[in-house]
Amino acid sequence: MSTDPAQRHPRDSAGGATVVDIQGLRKSFGTVEVLTDITTTVRTGEVVCIIGPSGSGKSTLLRCVNLLEHPTGGTILVDGLDITDPDCDIDRVRSRMGMVFQQFNLFAHLSVLDNCTVAQQVVLKRSKKEAEKVALVNLDKVGLVDRGDAFPAQLSGGQQQRVAIARALSMDPELMLFDEPTSALDPELVGEVLSVMRRLASEGMTMMVVTHEMAFAREVADRVIFMDGGVIVEEGSPDRVIGNPQHRRTRTFLKRVLDPTNVDPDDDDDDDVSEVEQHASAAAQKPARTSAEKPAQAAATADHDHGHGS
Ligand SMILES: Nc1ncnc2c1ncn2[C@@H]1O[C@H](COP(=O)(O)OP(=O)(O)O)[C@@H](O)[C@H]1O
Ligand SMILES: [Mg+2]
Repeated sequence: MSTDPAQRHPRDSAGGATVVDIQGLRKSFGTVEVLTDITTTVRTGEVVCIIGPSGSGKSTLLRCVNLLEHPTGGTILVDGLDITDPDCDIDRVRSRMGMVFQQFNLFAHLSVLDNCTVAQQVVLKRSKKEAEKVALVNLDKVGLVDRGDAFPAQLSGGQQQRVAIARALSMDPELMLFDEPTSALDPELVGEVLSVMRRLASEGMTMMVVTHEMAFAREVADRVIFMDGGVIVEEGSPDRVIGNPQHRRTRTFLKRVLDPTNVDPDDDDDDDVSEVEQHASAAAQKPARTSAEKPAQAAATADHDHGHGS
């Protein structure tokens, strides 16, 4: 398998078709705006990693893309279809996307194979036989083709998450959304899930991945988006955003994630409104702000500080 982005995504250089087109996206919960003017696009075959502190709006962004949350402003086009249009067929939109969450959400009472066939039969109206055939192809892809009869409780967390990926793939999605897929795993199980994701990327799957795995993002992402306080602070190639970040908030965040035991408390003195990254060690954590004041502060700071695309 090649990890050379040019080889992985040959369509990129030619400019793949836009799969997701997000323009001026806003999302409020009550009076609190947690996404402010998010504008970005994802092209066919692209792997976009979204990084940023806890509470910065990463999950909300992904959840807006598959309409688990309804945007309060802006538009999201998926394959040119405006999913923010009230007349949009939500089920049709969702059937094009696979979503993998931090918690695997497998049906405990169903076997691995049945977990991977239920939605195919119900949503895609596939026969049981057809659905099982597809499921086995995808279980093979995640290295679990021989565990079809097992129940989730008999599997490790890493195996369960791989089943969740196989289940999503069995719906033939054209876009995969991952929300911190390795955050709930014991450290020794993270690698097996990342390697499945790496392989998916190498096969040209279009992916939006919220992750704290910086080595993975650096290696696999075509583009990295750094979010803080509900805005995109910067985005670009992994080498630029992770290797040579332009904004102080990005640098502060990366320092916390990459070296949590060596965080300078003065990093918070100036423009930085980030929550201390949850993955940082407890020792490095400061008292959290309330969720109500945080996004408003962050958005206000973002306005006069680092605008998106600056
Ligand atoms: N359903 C909800 N109701 C109210 N506030 C929410 C809801 N979901 C998320 N939030 C708030 O929106 C902000 C962004 O949350 P989230 O998107 O989960 O951030 P992240 O994934 O980056 O940690 C947080 O302040 C969070 O408390
Ligand atoms: Mg989240």
